[in-house]
Amino acid sequence: MKMSVIGCGYLGAVHAAAMASLGHDVVGIDVDAAKIEALAAGRAPFFEPGLPELLTADHETGSLRFSTDVSEITGSAVHFIGVGTPQRRDGNGADLQYVDAAVESLLPHLSPGDLVVGKSTVPVGTAERLAALIEPTGAELAWNPEFLREGFAVKDTIEPDRLVYGVRSDRAVEILDQVYAQALSTGTPRLVTDFPTAELVKTAANAFLATKISFINAMAEIAEATGADVTQLADAIGHDVRIGRKFLNAGVGFGGGCLPKDIRAFSARAEELGRGESVAFLKEVDAINLRRRRRVIDLVTDALGGSAYNKRVAVLGLAFKPDSDDIRDSPALDVAVQLHGLGADVVAWDPEAVDNARRLHPQLGYADDLDGVLAGAEAVVLVTEWKQFRELDPAKTAEAVASATIVDGRNVLDPQEWRAAGWTYQGLGRP
Ligand code: UGA
Repeated sequence: MKMSVIGCGYLGAVHAAAMASLGHDVVGIDVDAAKIEALAAGRAPFFEPGLPELLTADHETGSLRFSTDVSEITGSAVHFIGVGTPQRRDGNGADLQYVDAAVESLLPHLSPGDLVVGKSTVPVGTAERLAALIEPTGAELAWNPEFLREGFAVKDTIEPDRLVYGVRSDRAVEILDQVYAQALSTGTPRLVTDFPTAELVKTAANAFLATKISFINAMAEIAEATGADVTQLADAIGHDVRIGRKFLNAGVGFGGGCLPKDIRAFSARAEELGRGESVAFLKEVDAINLRRRRRVIDLVTDALGGSAYNKRVAVLGLAFKPDSDDIRDSPALDVAVQLHGLGADVVAWDPEAVDNARRLHPQLGYADDLDGVLAGAEAVVLVTEWKQFRELDPAKTAEAVASATIVDGRNVLDPQEWRAAGWTYQGLGRP
């Protein structure tokens, strides 16, 4: 099928490349000329495992083009909207300016029978509003939320665990079935819904995941007051298949371009609908999450004898999670910035996110590699659980630092092993 993808960020670029790899003829559109230039040359403009290989292969088959000119979508029958919906600057709601601009830019180029497919995460009610703009052109709208995780985006796009079609006609279902023919042929569950249900599926899924993480972080707070170990607690309750062990890792909490802004946008939308109290708990979910950052900072300060001022602190990790260079609302970067604000001599390192962090926070100290970040540290704080950090050897690491003191903000190190090697180890919600 001939298709276009509007927006070439973490969602759109991966979607475009994945669709092309499935045999579709794809054009990706973005207003960011530098991004389009990189993608057109077969280079990924951000770190995402598997994306460079996909872009190179698509480049060779000629099935994927990129352009800043939206008129290039002419000839495509399906147009995906994959632009961002960040938090508004003036409140908690979602900023829909990019979605609105994408639809506005599409309108003059749509032909009767075209299908516009929204993938961006939007407040419930948005699709109905956009359909009123699109339908007069003779084109149709569908809402088809995306559930990809950064770091696994390629796999999640090609082999999704479910497909959700919010539609108004059987024809839209038929077109989407052609788009996703490969995934459907392997038995991927497909749910056909109306617009509000499709929009809410995405919002509800992210709200649930955020709640699950904050639940275990709340248990970590209780564990801290009682001497219990939250990692053992998570293992034990996780054996109950109704609960499940995934997303029960207590630590410095969730961040990124999705969960934090999505729970806030959900609260804001529910309030508009007069149902604020239905999701009032999401404010608590947010508050618990932000408290864990404070807790990590307090542990580092305590480990340094009550003040971080002028103390060399090694911050391991800047990305909001491993296998990503994304620093949007990253707990790791927030911890580094707050420690710097307390007067600490912060030196941070991340395998992929240093350049992004430096652009946003040039005031922090950055190392070039793992040896550089550890050298002379009076305290070490692990805040993104990259493999390089999970596999650190405690004895060798002790030789690199000035003081063998570590705060494990992701609970990924073995406390016994580290203590046996002479470290003062402190996790979150662990004795
Ligand atoms: C999230 C959802 O998982 C995806 O399904 C969704 O498609 C995506 O948002 C989106 O809306 O686009 P992502 O933001 O890539 O995906 O990251 P997650 O893997 O969900 O992790 C989010 C944060 O939670 C990270 O900071 C991670 O470190 C943290 N986390 C995760 C924990 O603190 N504990 C856990 O047990 C799991």
